[in-house]
Amino acid sequence: MISWDERYSAAEYFYGTEPNEFLRGHCLEIRRGGDVLCLAEGEGRNAVFLARQGFHPLAVDQSPVGLGKAAQLASARGVHIDTVVADLAAYRIEVGRWDGVVSIWCHLPSALRAAVHRQVVAGLKIGGVFLLEAYTPAQLAYGTGGPKDADLLPTLAGLREELVGLEFVHAAELERVIHEGPGHAGPSAVVQVVARRPT
Ligand SMILES: C[S@@+](CC[C@H](N)C(=O)[O-])C[C@H]1O[C@@H](n2cnc3c(N)ncnc32)[C@H](O)[C@@H]1O
Repeated sequence: MISWDERYSAAEYFYGTEPNEFLRGHCLEIRRGGDVLCLAEGEGRNAVFLARQGFHPLAVDQSPVGLGKAAQLASARGVHIDTVVADLAAYRIEVGRWDGVVSIWCHLPSALRAAVHRQVVAGLKIGGVFLLEAYTPAQLAYGTGGPKDADLLPTLAGLREELVGLEFVHAAELERVIHEGPGHAGPSAVVQVVARRPT
């Protein structure tokens, strides 16, 4: 199977350079100018967008090639992002550190996903916001992108359990049409969460 580094080795950006639409629509739920941790950030389109909105993003991903392109994109757009190459299985989210945590198509094995989400809850400041969009198991029937392994695909019910301690502001499983480069193209089954650490 092709690795993320290999996938990101092409000159073009695999998911494009425009941000994910769900993130664009909900990022202002996060305190303006705040520190935002972007999980599995890949080639940086979402972190660069957040930096252009005045946030301070830290992009974490296992792919040095992806994060190298993320830094290039930030430079080309005249903004700064911090990057950390790390496997989320080993990365530790600092407790009480983040105004926002963003998870866009961060498809992890279910046990790791649950462990990361426990850290997300603890890692948010009081009032901090978690934004997530991911494919659900229903996406397996669509064939328009995303992992082929159901264990990597969360449901809203599962996310509610994994994110105990947060208040859900927006929570939906829905079909929407996605155009994010060749990897994500067409009608898709997704789950979306906007959740806040309560005061
Ligand atoms: C579908 S891409 C999404 C990239 C980005 N969030 C976006 O929306 O453009 C999934 C990303 O997850 C990263 N990833 C997968 N498993 C990971 C892990 N265990 N630790 C860190 N990153 C991981 C991959 O390297 C890849 O960049």
